[in-house]
Amino acid sequence: MKAVVLEAPGQALLTSIPEARIGSEDEILLQVRKIGLCGTDLNSYRGRNPLVSFPRVPGHEIAATVAELNPKHPEWQPGMQVTLSPYKNCGECAACRRNRPNACQFNQTLGVQRDGALTELIAVPANKLFLSNLSLKEMCLVEPLTVGFHATARGRVTASDTVAVFGCGGVGLGVIAAAAFKGATVIGVDLDDAKLATARKAGAAHAINSATEDLHERLEQITDARGPDVVIEAIGSRQTFRAAVDEVAFAGRVVYIGYAKEEVAFDTKLFVQKEVDILGSRNALPEDFLSVIHMLEAHRFPVDDAVTHMVPMEEAPRILEAWNHEPTRFGKIMIDVS
Ligand SMILES: NC(=O)c1ccc[n+]([C@@H]2O[C@H](COP(=O)([O-])OP(=O)(O)OC[C@H]3O[C@@H](n4cnc5c(N)ncnc54)[C@H](O)[C@@H]3O)[C@@H](O)[C@H]2O)c1
Ligand SMILES: [Zn+2]
Ligand SMILES: [Zn+2]
Repeated sequence: MKAVVLEAPGQALLTSIPEARIGSEDEILLQVRKIGLCGTDLNSYRGRNPLVSFPRVPGHEIAATVAELNPKHPEWQPGMQVTLSPYKNCGECAACRRNRPNACQFNQTLGVQRDGALTELIAVPANKLFLSNLSLKEMCLVEPLTVGFHATARGRVTASDTVAVFGCGGVGLGVIAAAAFKGATVIGVDLDDAKLATARKAGAAHAINSATEDLHERLEQITDARGPDVVIEAIGSRQTFRAAVDEVAFAGRVVYIGYAKEEVAFDTKLFVQKEVDILGSRNALPEDFLSVIHMLEAHRFPVDDAVTHMVPMEEAPRILEAWNHEPTRFGKIMIDVS
């Protein structure tokens, strides 16, 4: 069957690999229909993801249909439209024992530590599947949006909160949509006006371009000088990691999603003075998948603005190269597999 394989840093190839088949009686064979790409895939392509070894089939944002009946699982009928959780947790580590498998110490994600779904058929455990009548394009957006939903759960976001979201890229947009869906007043922050326009469509009541506006002043204006109740960082830069603690309200919450690529120094006095809750947020739980499906079914996300490129599988190597060259020109890229 056809597959896109990352052969080496900067080298993606459309090639053929052995056909997938069910490995255990708990698995369902799926026909892959669409695959979304995100920053993780770009990093893998560049050879900068330490968790990825070559060759590797990428693909963890998946819309598929059931290809074949597994008689042990008659609930999954051929043709049913699904998306799935690409994570596999160990069941033994401290996070797993606390029922937080999203933060598993030994997590394995499809397309990262093991081969992913940018191919024609995959076999996955039945308990990872989610069913919906959303379009395939919407189904393919579920996984990337779950990361944002999970972050709002970590930040205990409610309708009475003002939530500032730093970064309106793929991950930040999911945060904005989730917080707005929960009724919060959302402030999107980015350097790029096009990203901010999409952020507004995803539910941000306010948009701040921190390249051209004074972030602190604008946040004070919007929050009557109290600062946002919750700041969610979805960039991973030194400045925004620090700004989150500087700008959050006293007794507020800071949630970090971004992976900072360098060490960050803090004036830790603020942690104490503000009695701030500082939370990490990683991946997502099954309930986040259900919440996102619910949100998409309510048409509360600007799908057509977020997905900027849809190309056939043959074009995947070329678009990876173009994306690598000029990352800011692309929103969500989707590959039409079949
Ligand atoms: N915790 C998790 O589970 C998880 C999952 C996926 C991604 N991530 C991390 O989340 C972060 C965001 O990922 P993404 O895919 O959305 O990236 P992205 O590149 O699509 O989006 C980043 C956005 O931040 C904006 N930006 C950059 N620097 C800025 C600054 N100084 N001030 C304001 N805006 C700025 C960019 O214009 C862009 O819109 C990355 O660090 C990624 O590694 C974490
Ligand atoms: Zn992704
Ligand atoms: Zn574990």
